[in-house]
Amino acid sequence: MKTKIFKDYEELSTNTANEILAVVQSNPMAMLCLASGDTPRLAYMLAAKRAKEGNIDFSRCTFVALDEWMGIPPANEGSCQFFLRRYLFDPLNIPERNINFFNAVSSDPDEECKKMNDVIARKGGIDLMIVGIGMNGHIGFNEPGQAFDQYAHVVDLDETSRTVAQKYFRESTQLSKGLTLGLRHMLEAKKVLLIASGLKKAEIIEKTMGEEISPKIPSTSIRNHPNGYVMLDKEAASLLSAKSM
Ligand code: F6R
Repeated sequence: MKTKIFKDYEELSTNTANEILAVVQSNPMAMLCLASGDTPRLAYMLAAKRAKEGNIDFSRCTFVALDEWMGIPPANEGSCQFFLRRYLFDPLNIPERNINFFNAVSSDPDEECKKMNDVIARKGGIDLMIVGIGMNGHIGFNEPGQAFDQYAHVVDLDETSRTVAQKYFRESTQLSKGLTLGLRHMLEAKKVLLIASGLKKAEIIEKTMGEEISPKIPSTSIRNHPNGYVMLDKEAASLLSAKSM
């Protein structure tokens, strides 16, 4: 794992967009797995804009969503699906057959997990995975305590995630479970970018880099990834010592 520190959110986003474009240019049939949330928003907007300007063809890539709020339909603006469509898939006109989401309103969530596991396995794994980090160190919805060797699964969201996530919804929304790819998917991905921005993430980034690698802080798992990058703006990196980078 390596750490990269950028001046600010804009520079972090530009470099994240560069990574997306580079993977697609070198492998037009790449499989990309993407988080939603505030952190990657600008990177996706920039990637979509530059792909259009530069005629970079995303039409043969496969996309897989990292996670979804159980019970929240895709038309809800707070859903991960709504976000990815709005900022990336719609602007790029990605063919529907190339997009894979968890169906959050399915009556059989375990089957949804199996479906995602199968899609990823059939493609031979994820080429590029972009993840954010929760205030509790979650990756996707792998909350503290989740084993590193799991593929997709259903999780009970913890109190921090349920509270922080209200920022995505127009109205106060009852969230209790999530569907998520597992940390094993991340550890097996060919390349992973964990991106974080702002002072509010500084403390969990310090723990991610400095504390023992353990399911107590799921984000520490990225330190086991030989091609993992922790990409930060200066504020998110502000508590890191040279030793932990
Ligand atoms: C969302 C996801 C979450 C977020 C994390 C950070 O798809 O996987 O793990 O990446 O909660 O969210 P933001 O970027 O909003 O701070």
